[in-house]
Amino acid sequence: MNIRRAEPKDLTKIQQCNLHNLPENYHMKSWAYSFITWPEISYLAEDSSGRVVGYVLSSMWVKVAHIEPDEEYPWLQVGHVNSLSVLRTYRRLGLAKRLMLLSKKAMIESYNIEYIQLHVRKSNRAAFSLYSEKLGFKIHRKEAGYYGDGEDAYSMRIVLKPRSFTHRLGRRVQAFVYARQRAVANWTLKCAKRVSQIK
Ligand SMILES: CC(C)(COP(=O)(O)OP(=O)(O)OC[C@H]1O[C@@H](n2cnc3c(N)ncnc32)[C@H](O)[C@@H]1OP(=O)(O)O)[C@@H](O)C(=O)NCCC(=O)NCCS
Repeated sequence: MNIRRAEPKDLTKIQQCNLHNLPENYHMKSWAYSFITWPEISYLAEDSSGRVVGYVLSSMWVKVAHIEPDEEYPWLQVGHVNSLSVLRTYRRLGLAKRLMLLSKKAMIESYNIEYIQLHVRKSNRAAFSLYSEKLGFKIHRKEAGYYGDGEDAYSMRIVLKPRSFTHRLGRRVQAFVYARQRAVANWTLKCAKRVSQIK
């Protein structure tokens, strides 16, 4: 078994593995975009014939508090696990855990991330126990009807930079002020539009 970084040349084989394992599939261009943009953080496992038997596809996101109001920080960079899967015959060998840990290490070394996030189906006990028991992810919130078939998701996170209470409070206040400023700006814009219509 060989575990290594995923590269654009592996795209087709990774997609095959994804199609075998998950109903959530992606266009080639979105796999390619991630590999090219964040080449350090996606990994794969291949057997002796070069077949991809497991992979983790990750990306980096920027969160902005006035758009996502539950964020504690006005602006922050987070790691996102887009897709993880292991072929049935290779499960329970520790592959998924190893792939996830490699991706996490690379995210920490290459980017200044606050936390790593992912989504998991409520019914997916295997993945949920991997994330919560083996990797330390906690449920952040439930997202109703997140998946295409209407199933709910748990949005899970592992926080890498725990902050003090005062720091978090300060950030919340700052995020609140940004949100108010934005609301006032929108209101002013609306009024200006109305006035110009009246004229
Ligand atoms: C979820 C998945 C990636 C796990 O891959 P894996 O390589 O078998 O996982 P690991 O061997 O690294 O397992 C690590 C731990 O996860 C948990 N786990 C894995 N499979 C499990 C199962 N079927 N039932 C309960 N717990 C399970 C266990 O805690 C396990 O540790 P243990 O073997 O010491 O008990 C794999 O089952 C899979 O590809 N499923 C389909 C795709 C999928 O659901 N992807 C996740 C989408 S969010």
